[in-house]
Amino acid sequence: MDIKFRPHTREDIPYRMKWFNNPRVTKYLGASSQKKATKKTANKWFDDYEKESRKGTKKFFTVFDGKIPIGLVGLSRIHRINGSTDLFIIIGDDSYIGKGISKTIMNFIVNEYGFRKLGLHKINLGVFSDNKIAVNLHKKIGFKIEGTMKDESFFDGKYHDLYSMAIFNKKK
Ligand SMILES: CC(C)(COP(=O)(O)OP(=O)(O)OC[C@H]1O[C@@H](n2cnc3c(N)ncnc32)[C@H](O)[C@@H]1OP(=O)(O)O)[C@@H](O)C(=O)NCCC(=O)NCCS
Repeated sequence: MDIKFRPHTREDIPYRMKWFNNPRVTKYLGASSQKKATKKTANKWFDDYEKESRKGTKKFFTVFDGKIPIGLVGLSRIHRINGSTDLFIIIGDDSYIGKGISKTIMNFIVNEYGFRKLGLHKINLGVFSDNKIAVNLHKKIGFKIEGTMKDESFFDGKYHDLYSMAIFNKKK
């Protein structure tokens, strides 16, 4: 396995669309992710992303195994004064699930990029409490639950609790 990261580009839109139309990926991503991703919605997301990326408030990377795109990871709402941000991760390609790659990806975005490169103080993320794999992953990386937003989103026929989790940069 040769896991690499490169800035997310417009050429990656077809992969984004494919991944966001994979029920395994969107199962726990909330009400807004249950709608079908189309070329129009994916392009709109990228237009907004480009603006934010230029301002330095959002930065996403496409994850590759060699030349094969397998997922997406990024930081949103990067706030330079507070030193805070929100993290998002997906492994879109089913054949790369359950292989421990998620820890390599999290280590890159949290430690290498968020803490070392950007010098951030705190990385937040929101994860639905029934997304056991993601909750376990985040705990293993060192994220702690700071609070629970009860019945935060309605999808799959019921309300879901959202954990607000965070990790701190010990050097900042
Ligand atoms: C979250 C995601 C990136 C994790 O990648 P993954 O390859 O599935 O996860 P891993 O196999 O590395 O497992 C991570 C940890 O979860 C735990 N885990 C794995 N499968 C599990 C299961 N079925 N139930 C409970 N815990 C499980 C394990 O403890 C594992 O840690 P370990 O390797 O030390 O045992 C991936 O599942 C994904 O893309 N999910 C859809 C998008 C998503 O939910 N993103 C997170 C938004 S916050």
